[in-house]
Amino acid sequence: MAETLYIPSTTQRAEIYAALQPQIQALIESETDLIANLANVSAVLKEAFGFFWVGFYLVKDQQLVLGPFQGTLACTRIDFDKGVCGACYRAQKTLIVPDVDAFPGHIACSSASKSEIVVPLFKNQAVVAVLDVDSDHLADFSAIDQAGLEAMMQTVEKLF
Ligand code: SME
Repeated sequence: MAETLYIPSTTQRAEIYAALQPQIQALIESETDLIANLANVSAVLKEAFGFFWVGFYLVKDQQLVLGPFQGTLACTRIDFDKGVCGACYRAQKTLIVPDVDAFPGHIACSSASKSEIVVPLFKNQAVVAVLDVDSDHLADFSAIDQAGLEAMMQTVEKLF
């Protein structure tokens, strides 16, 4: 695999997502191990955008269990009826939360987290994991992030 990541020097996130997509594809094609790949996807997103927290929760034992991530210490298990991650699991669609303090039931792993996007990953039409991205800025996520991350997760979910 290429060990250097190419990140275009632009603040336009759509351009950055477009540049990352083939690199994520190449990364995943050259390694079959799920955890190794999820770890690198977290690292790529953290490095490319500087998000406060980026990581995966995996569906295990009827809960969402912390997987590979980049960022500060996080809660390890989330019930399906808890938090933004649980809401994403239940809704089976991407959730964008512009102000986490205004989201009933949001789980605050860090008080620095202000907004959040959670994207589901599917296998056989069932959610098998969620990607959780937290920002320390309010309203940091838009339809551009949703499109970029959903496209990326359609590549990543092939690993499951
Ligand atoms: N905020 C998430 C919990 C995970 S941490 O942000 C890493 C939630 O409400 O589900």
